[in-house]
Amino acid sequence: MPFDFKGKKVLVTGAGKGIGRGVAIALKKAGCKVYALSRTKSTLDSLVEECPDIIQIVADLSDWEGTREKLEQLEVLDGLANIAGIAGHDYAAVNCPKEYINHLLDNNLLSAINCSQVVAKKMIEAGVKGSIVNCSSISGMAAFPMCLPYAVSKAGMDMVTKQFALELGPHKIRVNSVDPGLVNTPLVQSLIEKGRCSVETFSSRSPMGRIPTVEEIVGPILYLLSEHSTMVTGQMHVVDGGCLSNITVKV
Ligand SMILES: NC(=O)c1ccc[n+]([C@@H]2O[C@H](COP(=O)([O-])OP(=O)(O)OC[C@H]3O[C@@H](n4cnc5c(N)ncnc54)[C@H](OP(=O)(O)O)[C@@H]3O)[C@@H](O)[C@H]2O)c1
Repeated sequence: MPFDFKGKKVLVTGAGKGIGRGVAIALKKAGCKVYALSRTKSTLDSLVEECPDIIQIVADLSDWEGTREKLEQLEVLDGLANIAGIAGHDYAAVNCPKEYINHLLDNNLLSAINCSQVVAKKMIEAGVKGSIVNCSSISGMAAFPMCLPYAVSKAGMDMVTKQFALELGPHKIRVNSVDPGLVNTPLVQSLIEKGRCSVETFSSRSPMGRIPTVEEIVGPILYLLSEHSTMVTGQMHVVDGGCLSNITVKV
C-alpha cells in the first residue's frame, strides 16, 4: 500500500542533508505539505530547488528560544519528524569535556524536546491526532568507541519517545523512535574520513551483509507518521540489518 499524505502537514528537522532530506522528499512525493527545517540555508535552497513546494525554515535547533519563536508561528501540524542531529565521536569517555557533552545534548536531545513541545501543544489544542517520530540510533542501545555524548543523547532520545508517548497518548498523539544502524550520509562520511568508523565494520556484523540505505530508513519513518501505524506508540524501531542482534563478526 503506498503512503498517502494528501492534506497532511509535517515538519521535518535536519531536512538539509542525509536522512532528513530523504524524509522531506518522500513526504512531498506522497502529497504532504512539508516544512523543512535545517541550519544551513544553502542545503535547504537546494532541497527547494529539487522539490519546489517544500517550505524552508532556517533555524539552529541548539538555540532553544530562537527555534521556539519560529515554530510558534507555524500552523497546526499533523506530524513532526525530529531527524536533525550531529556526530559526537571526538573524545574518549574519560577525556570528554563538559562543554562538548552539553553541545551534543543541546543539538541532539533538547532540540527534539523543544520541537515536540511546541508542535504537540498545538496538536492538543486543535484536537489533531498527530504523530511524532524521533530519529535515535543503535548507538543509544550499545556502546561504540569514542561515542559517549552521542550515545547518551540517543539513549535519552529513546526515553523522550517513551515519556512523550505516555503523556500524549490520551490526546491521540503517537510518538515513536526509529533507531538506524550505520547509514552512509554526510554525517557518516565525516566520521569515516576521521577514521572513527567504517562501512565494513557494520556490514560484517549484519546478517544482511550490508548497511541500510537512506531510503531504507525513510520508509519506516513514513510508516510511523502514517495512518498505517495508528496503534503503534512508545516504540523503538531498530533499522540496522540485524547488526545489533548479532554478536558474531566471523567464526
Ligand atoms: N547516518 C547514520 O549512520 C545514522 C545512524 C543512526 C542515527 N542517525 C541519526 O539520524 C539523524 C540524521 O543523520 P544524518 O546521518 O542524515 O546526518 P547529516 O547527513 O549530517 O544531516 C543532518 C542534517 O541535520 C541538520 N542539523 C544538524 N544540527 C542541526 C541544528 N542544530 N539545527 C538545525 N539543523 C541541524 C544538518 O544541517 P547542516 O546542513 O547545517 O549540517 C543536516 O541538514 C541524526 O539524528 C543522526 O544522529 C544517523
